Amino acid sequence: MHVFSIIALLGAATLGATQGSNATTVTGKLGDAKPVRNNPVIGETWVATFDSTVKGRVTAVAATVGINYTIDVQGLAVDKGPYKYHIHLHPVPESGNCTETGGHLDSYERGDTPPCDSSKPQTCEVGDLSGKYGTVPGPVVMKE
Ligand SMILES: *[C@@H]1O[C@H](CO)[C@@H](O)[C@H](O)[C@H]1NC(C)=O
Ligand SMILES: *[C@@H]1O[C@H](CO)[C@@H](O)[C@H](O)[C@H]1NC(C)=O
Repeated sequence: MHVFSIIALLGAATLGATQGSNATTVTGKLGDAKPVRNNPVIGETWVATFDSTVKGRVTAVAATVGINYTIDVQGLAVDKGPYKYHIHLHPVPESGNCTETGGHLDSYERGDTPPCDSSKPQTCEVGDLSGKYGTVPGPVVMKE
């Protein structure tokens, strides 16, 4: 099991309402994200742990098709959500400086604006997990 923490939770009260079926379908400059099939590392697990004001973990398991995510987090501020969450390019360094996580994982150069249509996850930025699975309201989140 690899332990890392590259998932950032960001408050996004202004964008939450624009997600869903009314969102525009936009694909990346390099096209739609290609589904990963016959994953050679089925069962390989990555965990992002949160252990400060926000506690919990986000677990990603390589499945036969794609990745299964489990989100189990508590301590998010009630009045700052809904929260967006993404996979970033780099882990949070020892210094805790989140700027050094770089941009979002975005292999197909899509960006996260405009918000993506969760019913067409292949058109979402690869690392835009809240775009694909929905924002979280806080303060406690349990999603599979
Ligand atoms: C991923 O989730 C699917 C659907 O719940 C499940 O059938 C499959 O066993 C899971 N795969 C792994 C490797 O956890
Ligand atoms: C955090 O990292 C960024 C990018 O490397 C840098 O510009 C900034 O000065 C750093 N902030 C602190 C407080 O060290």
